[in-house]
Amino acid sequence: MKKENVLQQKIIALKQQKKAVIFAHYYQSPEIQEIADFVGDSLELSRKAAETDAKIIVFAGVYFMAETAKILNPTKIVIVPDINAGCSLADGCPPDKFRDFLKNYPNHKVVTYINCSAEIKTMSDYVCTSSNAVKVINAIPPEENIVFAPDKNLGKYLINETGRDMVLWEGSCVVHEAFSLEKLIDLYQKNPDAVIVAHPESEAHILKTAQYIGSTSGMINYIKASPKPKFIIATENGILHKMQQEVPHKILIPAPSKEDNTCACSECAFMKMNSLEKLYKCLLKESPEVLLAEELITKAQKPIQQMLKI
Ligand code: 13P
Ligand code: SF4
Repeated sequence: MKKENVLQQKIIALKQQKKAVIFAHYYQSPEIQEIADFVGDSLELSRKAAETDAKIIVFAGVYFMAETAKILNPTKIVIVPDINAGCSLADGCPPDKFRDFLKNYPNHKVVTYINCSAEIKTMSDYVCTSSNAVKVINAIPPEENIVFAPDKNLGKYLINETGRDMVLWEGSCVVHEAFSLEKLIDLYQKNPDAVIVAHPESEAHILKTAQYIGSTSGMINYIKASPKPKFIIATENGILHKMQQEVPHKILIPAPSKEDNTCACSECAFMKMNSLEKLYKCLLKESPEVLLAEELITKAQKPIQQMLKI
């Protein structure tokens, strides 16, 4: 039996014994997605975290996602395979700098993308994800001014979609900023029958080429529903596993990134810090655990609950 299969079986047995649930994001490696109880986008994972009655949540994703699960389940044990699995968006918005930034914009509603730390969430009126961001912005009365953080690319996309003039924090995702427009055009010229789909964390020039823009789940649903046979996918390559399972007969081509000549697609190094070995160990030892102060949880819950209501 392959090493991965042995580990997968050990994880499944331990998970049942401990009454744990494994949540995984679409960007996780296929072998992690295969043993997860639920695989989804950030919004779906937050909703599942809010609903679960499992005692232990193993979160295979990046830290801000596990932190969100803990905020929604303060009495449960939330553990992660690698506590250092960060995110360039969350790490690029330090709380002290953001607090100072907000001083320039009193009387603004603060909307933060879920890819940020719990402390940033405490300074927010609303949290949003890529799948509900337009809805969240549209739910804010038009007379209100808005600060949006930390993703400037998603922010610019939202300004276009909603017509709201928002103040943007200068953050970005290293993975989605790595797509090459030149190589994408070249690829499209070789595949004129393909439909380009992109995640809204991508830069505006990439989004302009896309026929569909949406969250990871949004892209999967779009491709499933589309009658077209070929797609170019501008997001992290982990999504191809689930996507190809959903549409086995369709051709999926990863969008090319600027630097990489060997692998055409982008990879999130943070997401890929998790492995089956680390996941097994974390479940066995129930560590590393996400631990947050009670006050931080109470304050960060409010804007997340606001989002879940919308
Ligand atoms: P989704 O909410 O679309 O899954 O996005 C999460 C993410 O980190 C994208 O880079
Ligand atoms: Fe963060 Fe980008 Fe990785 Fe998503 S793909 S977790 S936004 S660094």
